[in-house]
Amino acid sequence: MEELYSKVAEASKFLESKGVKHPEIGIILGTGLGKLAESVQPIEVISYDEIPHFPVSTVESHHGRLIYGELEGKKVLAMQGRFHYYEGYSGTQITFPVRVMHAAGIKHLLISNAAGTVNPNFKKGELMLIDDHINMIPDNPLRGQNDERFGPRFPDMSQPYSKELNSMIKQIASDLGLKINEGVYTPVAGPNLETRAEYRYLRMIGSDAVGMSTAPEVIVANHIGLPCCAISVLTDECDPDNLAPVSIAEILEIAATAEKDLTKIYTELVRRIYSRESQV
Ligand code: HPA
Repeated sequence: MEELYSKVAEASKFLESKGVKHPEIGIILGTGLGKLAESVQPIEVISYDEIPHFPVSTVESHHGRLIYGELEGKKVLAMQGRFHYYEGYSGTQITFPVRVMHAAGIKHLLISNAAGTVNPNFKKGELMLIDDHINMIPDNPLRGQNDERFGPRFPDMSQPYSKELNSMIKQIASDLGLKINEGVYTPVAGPNLETRAEYRYLRMIGSDAVGMSTAPEVIVANHIGLPCCAISVLTDECDPDNLAPVSIAEILEIAATAEKDLTKIYTELVRRIYSRESQV
């Protein structure tokens, strides 16, 4: 435990030595969703492999760098590329960057991901604000001895996604005339996509979308008391009675189109979030 705490402190100290000072908002960009990072006026771009104890991204569609800069006048830390369970990382490794960004000073965490929709009313190319999740990734990031300096042994998950941030997002979508669905996200281990029977099961248990990420980071954000929100870009329609083979190229293409709206919403959210001095 001491080990994780000091590793986080070491990584955060390293960021400080690179000029990262009082970042206010952390952003995690999912598969095919790196564009938002291009709106950030960079102050420092730090490759993951430079940061002590940071895992290194193995997925080609992920860049693997941390961008420290300004967006809408706020200091942000944007992760261009994240870590997944299917890459072989443990829950602790996947969520290490969340602890580091928090130690560096962020007060809010904005997450994005690509997901398949199992709700027949949602269409590919649309966005879904995550209201809740059903975590099916086996390795819980809090498994093992708890360090009270991070948070409690049994963190509450009655409202894992910030009510305030979620209502701001809905207001923003309405103000900008953009459609956003709302629903339950279920991450699975991956890396294979689901069988027809699995999609049917996911729908039956109450899922609206299925992906392979996000819940670990959200669990840790709740552990450390960091308000967070997440938006899925719906890249494929998972209808068990009419299932076409999924093409990863198509998923990436749809993610690239839909991320324009995601970028608009998150940029406006960053603008509306009060600064460190006056909390949301
Ligand atoms: N299943 C799991 N993960 C995904 C999917 C899917 O259908 N689409 C995009 N990410």
